[in-house]
Amino acid sequence: MLVAEGLLKQLGARVGQHLSRRTCAIVTDSNVAALFADRAKQSLISARLKPILITIPAGEKSKTLKQAGAICEEMLAAGLDRQSFVVGLGGGVIGDISGFVAAIYHRGIPHVQIPTTLLAMVDSSIGGKTGVNTADGKNLIGAIHQPLLVIDDVDLLKTLPRREFNQGFAEVIKHAITADAKMFAQLQSWEPRSPRRQLALQRLIKRNIEIKSKIIAKDEYDRTGIRAVLNFGHTVGHAIERAGNYKRFLHGEALSLGIVAACALSSKKAGLPRRQHDAVIGLLQRFALPTRLPKNFPRQKVFDALKFDKKFEGGKIRFVVTPKIGSTHVSRNVTMGDIREAIDEL
Ligand SMILES: NC(=O)c1ccc[n+]([C@@H]2O[C@H](COP(=O)([O-])OP(=O)(O)OC[C@H]3O[C@@H](n4cnc5c(N)ncnc54)[C@H](O)[C@@H]3O)[C@@H](O)[C@H]2O)c1
Ligand SMILES: [Zn+2]
Repeated sequence: MLVAEGLLKQLGARVGQHLSRRTCAIVTDSNVAALFADRAKQSLISARLKPILITIPAGEKSKTLKQAGAICEEMLAAGLDRQSFVVGLGGGVIGDISGFVAAIYHRGIPHVQIPTTLLAMVDSSIGGKTGVNTADGKNLIGAIHQPLLVIDDVDLLKTLPRREFNQGFAEVIKHAITADAKMFAQLQSWEPRSPRRQLALQRLIKRNIEIKSKIIAKDEYDRTGIRAVLNFGHTVGHAIERAGNYKRFLHGEALSLGIVAACALSSKKAGLPRRQHDAVIGLLQRFALPTRLPKNFPRQKVFDALKFDKKFEGGKIRFVVTPKIGSTHVSRNVTMGDIREAIDEL
């Protein structure tokens, strides 16, 4: 994983340090293509690589099996074979679908990721989870396929709309609550407009990669329950995202609300001090993230959406709580009634 400014123009050279393959597909979306595809392509060409560019419509709607199939067909038509590789240039949607294509094309070829959103840099590009959505839900079809190389060029974040930028901070705050009280304190005095911001942002991204990688290294295939702490805030967050038909809230915004609910439940069931609970809400607000559900939002719909959660195994709830900022664990002490109450109070 590389994190620095100006890395995109070094793409060809960087890939050359890891691979002797020549042909590749750059998979990107319609927004990102207009901004960065040329630079990526030129850098690969100057390193004597042969890229083809595949652009799909921007947005979550593109993350389907059909779209993944179409990308594979395009690669086949261009003569890409087992000796080729895939470069995913974009946010989490592109990371997930291009990674999935890399996992299945000729039974698996290398995947290089160039995340272009903060969320993708601090979260989705780490851990090797790839996949697509179906009509029944998100990420139901997929594979674990670790990227060969992830290149985080922080310059690419300059064009990211403010709302998209802020939603990435929901995952950063989640990491802080999960595993790093010191980072939590640093975020409390985060100055978005400071001249040293680029450097601070680089450090922050590196730290988040460390946190997530460390947790994943202990449980790569999500089997022992260790990786589950990364779901902090996501049980209610996903339900809110679904209840809003994936339109009302961005993932990070729904997560922000889910974090508030998880903190309320942690106060009730795991001894999270009130002061820390309030500090979390203050921090989310600092990044313009929502901390209350709109009054008229259908809470019943949120509650109904909970049953789609993969964490409800055999009717038992595995709910991630925090007894104090910087530490989390899975609790079996939280009931459906408790969750209902937390949603009603949001
Ligand atoms: N694999 C994992 O472990 C994992 C973890 C978390 C989330 N995800 C997935 O990530 C996806 C969400 O990712 P996302 O929030 O990055 O969404 P996204 O990829 O849809 O990007 C958000 C929007 O920003 C635009 N954009 C991207 N980079 C830009 C830039 N530099 N400048 C201007 N515009 C830019 C995109 O075109 C898009 O419209 C979801 O599908 C989610 O399921 C995966
Ligand atoms: Zn998330």
